[in-house]
Amino acid sequence: MSSIKACIFDAYGTLFDVNAACRKLSTEVGSKWQELASLWRLRQVEYTWLRNSMDEYVDFWQITSDALDYAMETLDIENYKLREDLLALYLKLEAYPEVKSVLNNLKQKGFKTGILSNGSNKMLNSAVDNANIRELLDEVMSVEECKIYKPSKKVYDLVQSKMNIKKEKVMFFSSNAWDMHAASNYGFNTIWVNRFNGKLEKLPGKPIHIVNSLENIDQIF
Ligand code: LAC
Repeated sequence: MSSIKACIFDAYGTLFDVNAACRKLSTEVGSKWQELASLWRLRQVEYTWLRNSMDEYVDFWQITSDALDYAMETLDIENYKLREDLLALYLKLEAYPEVKSVLNNLKQKGFKTGILSNGSNKMLNSAVDNANIRELLDEVMSVEECKIYKPSKKVYDLVQSKMNIKKEKVMFFSSNAWDMHAASNYGFNTIWVNRFNGKLEKLPGKPIHIVNSLENIDQIF
């Protein structure tokens, strides 16, 4: 572990709680709020993979809006104001409670820190400022830079090109198993933040550690 120079984090689901928007408006959404949150997230990531394959990039804000429209239509929720309110909340997603102290501890130990995310710059900057973690991050890297989504290797290459840190010296954290598998296969050291009690995918690439949350991860180093 002594060779690790940078700790790089996925954003959505890893640092920021993707269910927070639907949870905050659960009264307005009604009994289907969890279903809406899950389907919204599922289509959001599926649309990134499908658009990669089609070579049809649009930014993550468009993907997020399209996925919400699909999910609301599927669940027969017709409410334009609710749609607008959910999207507005997506720009201010809550960070998980341990995030600030974890980043603080890593910085104090001398690691470089960063976010590497599908999110657009606008979305990431808004979430970072809302969580008040700007000063704890050396880089906020968006796929807007390469205009293709994870798991393209071009995304993981951004760490080397923006931070000048070789992949062997990176510890990458993601709660999304597919992202962790792809990043491991690329050559990053990875920690799977298995927040939702999932199983490893049957895909190439293995994590070095599996944890339930980011709490206490600094003890690994
Ligand atoms: C991200 C998605 C994959 O932040 O969670 O890149």
